[in-house]
Amino acid sequence: TDSVVTGGGPAYSSGSRTALSVADLRSSGGPSPGGAVRRHVLTAKTATVRLDSGREIDAWTYDGRLPGPAITATEGDVVEVTLRNDDIGDGVTLHWHGYDVACGEDGVPDLTQHAVAPGEEFVYRFRADQVGTYWYHTHEASDPGVRKGLYGTLVVTPREAQRADQDGGGEQLDLTLPVHTFAGAVVVGNRDGRAEHVAAPGTAVRLRLVNTDSDPHRVALTGTAFRVAAVDGRDLNRPGRIRDVGLRLPAGGRYDLVFVMPDTAVALVLDNDRGTGVSLHPDDAGREPRTEDTSDWPELDLLRYGAPSRLPFDPDAADREFTLVLDRAVAMVDGRPSYAQAVNGRGHPSIPDLLVAEGDVVRFTVVNRSLETHPWHLHGHPVLIVSRDGARPSGSPLWMDTFDVRPGEVWEVAFKADNPGIWMNHCHNLPHAEQGMMLHVSYD
Ligand code: C2O
Ligand code: CU
Repeated sequence: TDSVVTGGGPAYSSGSRTALSVADLRSSGGPSPGGAVRRHVLTAKTATVRLDSGREIDAWTYDGRLPGPAITATEGDVVEVTLRNDDIGDGVTLHWHGYDVACGEDGVPDLTQHAVAPGEEFVYRFRADQVGTYWYHTHEASDPGVRKGLYGTLVVTPREAQRADQDGGGEQLDLTLPVHTFAGAVVVGNRDGRAEHVAAPGTAVRLRLVNTDSDPHRVALTGTAFRVAAVDGRDLNRPGRIRDVGLRLPAGGRYDLVFVMPDTAVALVLDNDRGTGVSLHPDDAGREPRTEDTSDWPELDLLRYGAPSRLPFDPDAADREFTLVLDRAVAMVDGRPSYAQAVNGRGHPSIPDLLVAEGDVVRFTVVNRSLETHPWHLHGHPVLIVSRDGARPSGSPLWMDTFDVRPGEVWEVAFKADNPGIWMNHCHNLPHAEQGMMLHVSYD
């Protein structure tokens, strides 16, 4: 088989503590015909990592690398990852952000497994049936764990290439670029400052951007028209060509940007900072990349982008409806009152579970009454955006796993309860989650 092994090392025990009930919801079965089992070993450890600027970071890493090893698969492969922990005293897990694995593979400590303590290991296994751009990160001590470096990317490509802008048999450049901030410095991929990739004119480029931070980033592509082919790993319907617009990439979110490399320079600019991002320049040019001022470019409204298409369920015929009001409140946290990030006036673990039944169409309304943005994230299911501040999308159906609810906004979303288990529903500003802004969606 076409398997990949990274890491390795001493013997690890799989721990001796008792299993939790949803921990039995594991996936089984092999790859689909023609597929492979892709095996990895990731070892969590502290490490001092030197960035390309020379700056050194005391990091928590998978395999001593920032970001952790890229995990890739072809649709229908089985991904099998053994997670080991050398010396992260808080314990670690692997959560497959946006990937709708069986609940027992979801990597949530004290819910789907125990955190992997130093000297222990846990084996994750799932079939890669969802194509697109995703990421993985620890869910134990998620802040500080993710902030210190326990993250990496997961990309699943279609078994048959079928993408617009990528057919025609010409050159292709498929770049996966996690964006992460270490103590104020933005690191794209594994470089701080500006990275360069050479793409000859005519090359079909796909930039897979992954925001692994707790705050949004602004993304702008200068020097070319492009399309947003996918959001959070899911293809948009008939996304049109756009240019000179900014994109807001929520915490945890992903955009796939596609374009054909023109004869002139192209640059990805992050947060309107000309010194940060990625230059893509034709190898015959060799001149300075065009890094114009992008700060006054309008922001693309994804709810009005692309073309409508049929939905797999009717969000207006929901079986269950819930409302989540996000605010700071004096909330009960672990049985004690404290001023914390709250949902409906309570903090985790005092927030009642949202109960659903398999097959339900579930709709929920998220109201942000606070002065901070809350990137709202559901595990195990993509949510369909139904409305934002009462306005319905007029473009492509928009499926997200993390949507940015800004101060004062009201979002309605819906999902199909088709993945039994108990699932986290939380703010992906990870300090907010740690301060209590998380709850469970639980199947009856
Ligand atoms: Cu990316 Cu519960 O998280
Ligand atoms: Cu929040």
